Amino acid sequence: MDQKKSFRKGRNTKNNNKFNKKRNLKQKQKQKQKQKQKQNQKHNKKEKEKEIKKEKEHEEQNEINERKRKNKPKPFTKNLFGMGKKRRKNQNQSNQGIHRSTKKKNSKTKNKLQGARFRLLNEKLCSMTGKQALKYFRTNKEQFKKYHQVYKEQVKKWDNNPLDVIIEEIKTRPQNLKIADLGAGEGRLEKSVRQKVYSFDLCSTNSWVTECDISHVPLEDSSVDIVVFCLSLMGSTYIDYLLEGYRLLKIG
Ligand SMILES: C[S@@+](CC[C@H](N)C(=O)[O-])C[C@H]1O[C@@H](n2cnc3c(N)ncnc32)[C@H](O)[C@@H]1O
Repeated sequence: MDQKKSFRKGRNTKNNNKFNKKRNLKQKQKQKQKQKQKQNQKHNKKEKEKEIKKEKEHEEQNEINERKRKNKPKPFTKNLFGMGKKRRKNQNQSNQGIHRSTKKKNSKTKNKLQGARFRLLNEKLCSMTGKQALKYFRTNKEQFKKYHQVYKEQVKKWDNNPLDVIIEEIKTRPQNLKIADLGAGEGRLEKSVRQKVYSFDLCSTNSWVTECDISHVPLEDSSVDIVVFCLSLMGSTYIDYLLEGYRLLKIG
């Protein structure tokens, strides 16, 4: 009987061990599953956060682009102070970029407008007779001033200003020569050389340029040694200007 009992006991303990092992395995599997679930949850959370971040960035970018299109700098709103240091810095930099780009655009459009205005007046002058041009600028002195303002800006962009070349050439000539500058503009030639220069233009913005149409210059025949037409042969009566220049020149 005792032998039988001990045999049964042995078998029971063996069974118990097996059962325990199985239970341990199941528990481990459950723990693993739980860990996996936790990891998945964490992963999902991170991905959601990333998506939200991306969406926010995308929205911000869209806003910036829209503002760029409308030429409006981004206002410094309160959320700027809620940002981290790095992000605030980036935001300010991007705002400065917008300011700079709008400034650039504005100056570009200003230049374009000025250029267009200049071309328009130039065309007007080219299609008018000297007499008509004189009348036009006498009644629109402001237009003349603007024309010369823009002309100065345009000249800055040129590689060579022909007036500079003329000035350098005249500087090498004898000092006792007399010069007529026909279509003198603001009369820079007269102020740049030592010879006696008579400056004439449709409109005068200073004391040394005489107002006249250069087809009728108030100087006597054969009274000057050099006649200068620097970019001024521009009216429909330009041949009259040339003939007038010829009249003014000394013979020989
Ligand atoms: C392009 S600007 C050149 C100005 C100057 N010669 C210079 O180089 O700085 C041409 C000038 O010729 C002048 N002009 C054109 N036709 C004229 C005319 N019939 N009588 C007087 N001046 C004239 C215009 O008023 C203008 O000032």
